[in-house]
Amino acid sequence: MPNYNYLYSFNYDSHNSELCKLESRQIFNQSEKYKILFSDIKVDPSISPFIKNRFEIITSSDSYTNLITNIKEEDIHIDGFKAEYLILDGDNTDYDERRKKLKDVGYSIVGEPDFENPSIIYSICIYNNIWYFGVLIKHNMEWQKHKKKPFSFSNSIGMDIAKTLVALTSKGDKSKKLLDACSGVGTVILEACIAGFNIEGCDINPKRYEQTLKNIKHYDYTSNIYCKDIKDHVGSYDCAIVDLPYNLYSLVDDSTTEHIINSTVKLSERVIIVSTSDIKDTIKKSGLKVKDFCIVEKRGKSKFSRKIWVCEKE
Ligand SMILES: C[S@@+](CC[C@H](N)C(=O)[O-])C[C@H]1O[C@@H](n2cnc3c(N)ncnc32)[C@H](O)[C@@H]1O
Repeated sequence: MPNYNYLYSFNYDSHNSELCKLESRQIFNQSEKYKILFSDIKVDPSISPFIKNRFEIITSSDSYTNLITNIKEEDIHIDGFKAEYLILDGDNTDYDERRKKLKDVGYSIVGEPDFENPSIIYSICIYNNIWYFGVLIKHNMEWQKHKKKPFSFSNSIGMDIAKTLVALTSKGDKSKKLLDACSGVGTVILEACIAGFNIEGCDINPKRYEQTLKNIKHYDYTSNIYCKDIKDHVGSYDCAIVDLPYNLYSLVDDSTTEHIINSTVKLSERVIIVSTSDIKDTIKKSGLKVKDFCIVEKRGKSKFSRKIWVCEKE
């Protein structure tokens, strides 16, 4: 029987499968499988676009009857709770049976339930013939409001990737100081801010800089944004993100790429690099070591892909 503190459940479209696996390798040191992952590492599920729940395991058993006995033995007295059934891969329990089981759980806890505004959600699930009971911490979808940010542009990165970049850079540790070295209109900055990360941004283009400031102000977030060439920026960060510039019709020249990467390496030990072209030789020359990598295809555009390198200083 797995003896872990947490069970994480994931959800993603097939074109994001590699990105989600890269993220889980970086956060949990293992890939999720069948959209499930057991770990002792505790992270906020809302830092990732793919983690839907963190299930905090209280007790487990290979027999459902024993699980209910275990729950009663926990002797939980609480008002305002709710019980929810978490359906995982391979669980074919039908709706009526799930409702019946939720009643069993509810009657094993002493207190008044609150189905509208629960203060705590208890949950049960079954995976690989083992029943689990625990507390369910759900992903907060509030970040979806960034879809309506006032400014965007053709080279903006998608919100899912932006959110993953923050998770990859920080590994979920909110005490880390982050930098977005080419912040554009601030897509990554918004995802870092809503998840409670300390991030600063830099962009050479005054128009993008102004748009980032307006986007941040629109949501009432706080972040220092600098309008300058990243080579002129002075600071020290735990991790940096570089979403390299590209032109939709002709790739940006090698010297620009080299210039941005070399300048960012001086500011941070860990750098996550995003590019539409293969720049592994430039990365190697900068003194960074590639720790992990993935290719993200754009949904519906088979020829367009982004490459993501997770790098650390040698
Ligand atoms: C692909 S865009 C980044 C998009 C951004 N992630 C977003 O979603 O809005 C690359 C950005 O790099 C900026 N840039 C180019 N050269 C730079 C440099 N030397 N220093 C800082 N920013 C630079 C460009 O102005 C552009 O906004």
